[in-house]
Amino acid sequence: MRSLYLRPPVAGRRARIRVPGDKSISHRAFLFAALASGRTHIIGPNHGLDVLATVRALRALGVNVRRMQLGFSVIGSGFCDPRRVIDCGNSGTTMRLLAGALAGRVDAQLDGDASLRRRPMSRVTTPLALMGARMESRAGYPPLRIFRGRDPLRPIRYKIPVASAQVATALLIAAIGARGPSTFVQTATTRDHTQRLLLAMGAKLRCSGRTLRIWPSQLRPVTKLRVPGDVSAAVYLLCAAAALPGTQLVVRDVGVNPTRTAALEVLRRMGAPVRLVRRRMWTNEPVADLQITGGAALRNVAVPGRLVPNLIDEIPALCALATIARGTLCVRQAAELRVKESDRIETTVRLLRAFGADARALDDGIVVHGGNKLRAPRSVRTSGDHRIGFAAAILAAASHSCITIRDSECMATSFPGFVRIWREAF
Ligand code: S3P
Repeated sequence: MRSLYLRPPVAGRRARIRVPGDKSISHRAFLFAALASGRTHIIGPNHGLDVLATVRALRALGVNVRRMQLGFSVIGSGFCDPRRVIDCGNSGTTMRLLAGALAGRVDAQLDGDASLRRRPMSRVTTPLALMGARMESRAGYPPLRIFRGRDPLRPIRYKIPVASAQVATALLIAAIGARGPSTFVQTATTRDHTQRLLLAMGAKLRCSGRTLRIWPSQLRPVTKLRVPGDVSAAVYLLCAAAALPGTQLVVRDVGVNPTRTAALEVLRRMGAPVRLVRRRMWTNEPVADLQITGGAALRNVAVPGRLVPNLIDEIPALCALATIARGTLCVRQAAELRVKESDRIETTVRLLRAFGADARALDDGIVVHGGNKLRAPRSVRTSGDHRIGFAAAILAAASHSCITIRDSECMATSFPGFVRIWREAF
């Protein structure tokens, strides 16, 4: 177990920093580049353990992925059967996206760590089976066994019952190799990085509202696919900065795709002065620099249910900041949190209470009454969930305290270099 010590933050600093590349876009960039015919150069991808699990899986499938001076080169040329079980580590995105990409195409087995083995896979295997893919699982949980089929997959029309971009992505990439056009209807708008990148790579895809129609397509490589900074990582830093009077922080080159930025909207509604400047586009994805000045008076809000899928990963961070705001933060319609890397409703509430905050778990969400005086414990645990570790760092900043995060290795799944960047900012 690796402990991480964070010293008390220094308020009033001015810093300009960058965060690692977006994790969701990075997984897609590697996988879609592997499905294309030719070389894609991926610049600035996330180097965390989750994305590296995808890279290792692709190499095991015979894809030529090479580290370059600037980023990675991927030469797409189809998949071959892997010789060993593919280890997806802690990464649900790796397993679910691979399930879609490999369905019917190879014989392979996908497995993961103890946390991933507790995450539901039937949400992808059920619709893939409707497309004719043969798969086996342990009652809907990993490991997953995938069998090569004789014929291409069947096109389907399918209503996706969970609000999940991972499921939509798995189905879209399975469907580009099917015999005809498929239609998928989402129950909510989820992150749309897949649709943007597939369109940039020449897929025939029509998105109207929550309905996605995709035709069999051969993907074209992208000469230079530049990955923006991860907005989820930026939000941790913005939350901590918001709690520190006089701190001025700029996070440069962050992805500001509207299906990912609901947390920025909530921060603004809470009274935190977040500004987006230098807006531009990188491979079909909007990018901006994010600015904030700390110390504004904060008030809590009820987070509208329709925003939840677009800030699902930022909920622990927003709850951490809510502890020092006036009023009550209420998040509902967020039962998906129970099947993340941990039961994130329970682990978030436990963490907040360890700091003396007034927080309560609901079946489908969290309530935080702000304004209790925080008392940082000497150390906390993440329960193996990276986003709980980052929320602990925000709580330490909000209580102007040091903290030891005991089982901190999981924080490298999404945010390599966290401590260096945190120290540059605070
Ligand atoms: C992700 C989608 C979300 C998110 C995860 C990454 C993606 O999961 O929580 O961190 O890259 O598509 P769900 O699709 O299960 O909601």
